[in-house]
Amino acid sequence: KPKFSNILIKINEEAADFYHRVLISTNAGKPGYNYAKKRGLNPEIISHFRIGYAPKQNNLLLTYLRGQNFKDEDLIKSGLFVQSQNGELFDRFRERLMFPLSNEGDYVVGFSGRRLAKDKTEAKYINSPETEIFTKSKTLFHFAEAKKAARSEKHLILYEGYMDVIAAYKAGIKSGIASMGTSLTDQQVYMLRRITNNIIINYDGDDPGIHAEERATRMFNQVGGFNLGIVVLPEKLDPDEYVKKYGAEKYQDEVKGALTPTDFFLKRLKQKYNLSNDREKLAYLDEAMKEIAQLSNPVEQDLYLNKIAKEQGVAQDSLKVNLTKYRRQQN
Ligand code: GTP
Ligand code: MN
Ligand code: MN
Ligand code: MN
Ligand code: MN
Repeated sequence: KPKFSNILIKINEEAADFYHRVLISTNAGKPGYNYAKKRGLNPEIISHFRIGYAPKQNNLLLTYLRGQNFKDEDLIKSGLFVQSQNGELFDRFRERLMFPLSNEGDYVVGFSGRRLAKDKTEAKYINSPETEIFTKSKTLFHFAEAKKAARSEKHLILYEGYMDVIAAYKAGIKSGIASMGTSLTDQQVYMLRRITNNIIINYDGDDPGIHAEERATRMFNQVGGFNLGIVVLPEKLDPDEYVKKYGAEKYQDEVKGALTPTDFFLKRLKQKYNLSNDREKLAYLDEAMKEIAQLSNPVEQDLYLNKIAKEQGVAQDSLKVNLTKYRRQQN
């Protein structure tokens, strides 16, 4: 890997090494180490993701980096410190498990820190602020590594959380990425577009996760040219919880069984109707035809018409008549 010249990257890289060493080999790192273990992170995972620990003390990193002769002026710009009223510097991240966030070249440009304490008065995750080197809307967790894995896995998988990317990695899927907690941005969609058009979305199985999947699907479709798969996990589980509960193999099956956007839409739509009631069934079929009319590929249209016809006990030909109606209405 070529040497970095940017001083802010240098500081963030040093910090990643520092937090990582604290986690794996110091007494101060014990709480982080125990927490990591409790979350199922083994040494290989901890090293691959360079996971670290920021202890409770408020100036450990500061003292270390000053000792490395970095100037306060640069330390301030690195995003790793907060400044008090009187200008004094303190470590921004304290008592948190540290996830380094890297740029496309795999250099650390910021961090996300997870609180260890159950105490919910503090945010579960805090991120580095926006800096000269870190822009949240253009950053994807694990992107540089996932890019490489995408060559053999032939897709990228989009997750909600860092722990989900990590759980997937442990389960043998190395092409996982996540946005920074904020919802997916257009810039991130274009970043993915450059790597592959095969994208699998696997957000949490709870309501916010499913709604975010709908939103992400719309964003990918707006850019166009993607081949999307959507995974909806049962019991409102997130991928990390799913792997823990059902194991790696079952999880891989869920990914293989990813739905097409149309199947995903139809499945969601079906849940809104009581299909044993004819009036509701007709309303469902009407909505379904509107959706299928949007598909540009006639083979794809036929596929879903056939499926719905069989499922609902109606003739495919009559569905097709309605489809033509909606296609005309669009123009
Ligand atoms: P764990 O509880 O550690 O398993 O995290 P999770 O990834 O399951 O968290 P959750 O599903 O609640 O949120 C998904 C993602 O949103 C996280 O990975 C974070 O990136 C982000 N996020 C969650 N809570 C916060 C928060 O309090 N602040 C910020 N900035 N981001 C958050
Ligand atoms: Mn690595
Ligand atoms: Mn969630
Ligand atoms: Mn989650
Ligand atoms: Mn989780």
